[in-house]
Amino acid sequence: MYILENTMLKKTIIGLGLSSTMMLFSGCMSDAGTTTKNAVDGGAKYEVKEGKYSSYYVNTQNVGKYNKGRSATPTEISAWDIDVMPDGTGLPMYDTKHGKVLLDQNGEKIIAQGSVEYGNELYDAQCAMCHGDFGSGGAGYPSLSGGDIESLTYQLQNPADAEPNEEPPSRRIGSYWPYASTLFWYIQDSMPFPHPKSLSNSEVYAISAYLFMENGIEIDGEELDEEFIMNREEFLKVKMPNADGFYPNVDTPEDPAQGVRNITEYLSEQKNYGAGTRCMSDCIKGEVPILRIKNELNDFNPVASTVRDLPIVEKNTDVQPGQEAYNNSCSACHGNAAIGAPVVGDKDAWEEVTSKGLDKVYHNGINGINGMPPKGGNMDLSDSEMKVIIDYMINSSK
Ligand code: HEC
Ligand code: HEC
Repeated sequence: MYILENTMLKKTIIGLGLSSTMMLFSGCMSDAGTTTKNAVDGGAKYEVKEGKYSSYYVNTQNVGKYNKGRSATPTEISAWDIDVMPDGTGLPMYDTKHGKVLLDQNGEKIIAQGSVEYGNELYDAQCAMCHGDFGSGGAGYPSLSGGDIESLTYQLQNPADAEPNEEPPSRRIGSYWPYASTLFWYIQDSMPFPHPKSLSNSEVYAISAYLFMENGIEIDGEELDEEFIMNREEFLKVKMPNADGFYPNVDTPEDPAQGVRNITEYLSEQKNYGAGTRCMSDCIKGEVPILRIKNELNDFNPVASTVRDLPIVEKNTDVQPGQEAYNNSCSACHGNAAIGAPVVGDKDAWEEVTSKGLDKVYHNGINGINGMPPKGGNMDLSDSEMKVIIDYMINSSK
């Protein structure tokens, strides 16, 4: 992760164009001709010495013969500490470059903002060479626009198996990414590829705005035009089209039945479970069984509302450990026979579950299995919280 001064960069890009290989960017190059250049890492400049330009080689406090480097400086740490969360944490208010807040003539902090038009210019100058005009993609470089949510339906299958009129999945920013924050973070952290962290916050807002426009993303129901100015406030309004494509929304207190409908819809969609994109290990091999909610559900009067408030516990009586979290995150499925989940209170069902050993059951609860999403879809739960809830479920089913 370093930036090279211009001459070096040009050379590298030419090299890249000719050989089409990313290897040139990684590791250290030894080229006697480059000894006078500087490299930048996280806001700190390093001299290039003996043709090597990583901080490992150029720091002055290296330890003994192993040349292990030195502790990161506070500036370097703050320059790297730029993660952005979906709730807006880390999304900058002020313009910053290389970890330093930019000030105007009066010494006031400059608000970070940028127009679609400016983003377009920056994109054409710094991104199009790899990602193509309008984000159309290039050989070996991801497309940044043009996705299709419908096509995600086929993401579990081998695209070769798709019907002739079915598009293979196109997982693009607009069709796949659940949160806008990832775009800001990704660009700020790692793009443009040869210059990670070279863009100011305003420039990242401008480029994001341009990419949102190219992806047809709306803000306040309006498509973005050239004059649109992106800043923190506007950015937080973006709702990505696939935001609900990863977990069903069960948090529908105003209409609990809607939560159940969301789960049903979610589980009826093959892409959402099994050997899907979310499966990291122990994935189902071969054909994935489609888990359909039984037809009874259509005539089924959802018990979600009663399930959600579960066994009516008298006020002030002890709530058992795990019970509240169970009610919030698990009861919508585990209190409902039609979902296919072992129902809490069903002795036989839980005897069968626990017969495989508690460790396995914890594992399945935490990592998911078949129609059971990892952590019941609530990734905020820690592994140990999950164990407490599972203990509660088992104890309530004896
Ligand atoms: C030298 C080529 C190059 C340039 C220039 C470049 N990128 Fe990239 N970009 C890449 C590569 C390669 C990847 C894929 C990295 C990976 O998957 O690990 C990528 C990935 C991305 C992604 C993630 C796409 C996805 O769907 O996963 C975004 C967003 C992105 N780049 C934005 C930009 C922006 C904005 C710029 C200009 C400021 C830019 N890139 C300039 C090569 C480049
Ligand atoms: C979207 C519906 C849904 C939600 C929400 C859900 N589960 Fe499940 N769960 C299932 C289904 C379906 C199964 C049965 C999976 C199978 O064995 O095929 C299951 C099975 C389990 C099992 C048994 C695993 C095994 O080894 O057989 C445990 C334990 C479990 N869930 C715990 C939880 C906990 C804890 C929560 C809440 C944090 C939760 N579940 C939320 C649907 C759900």
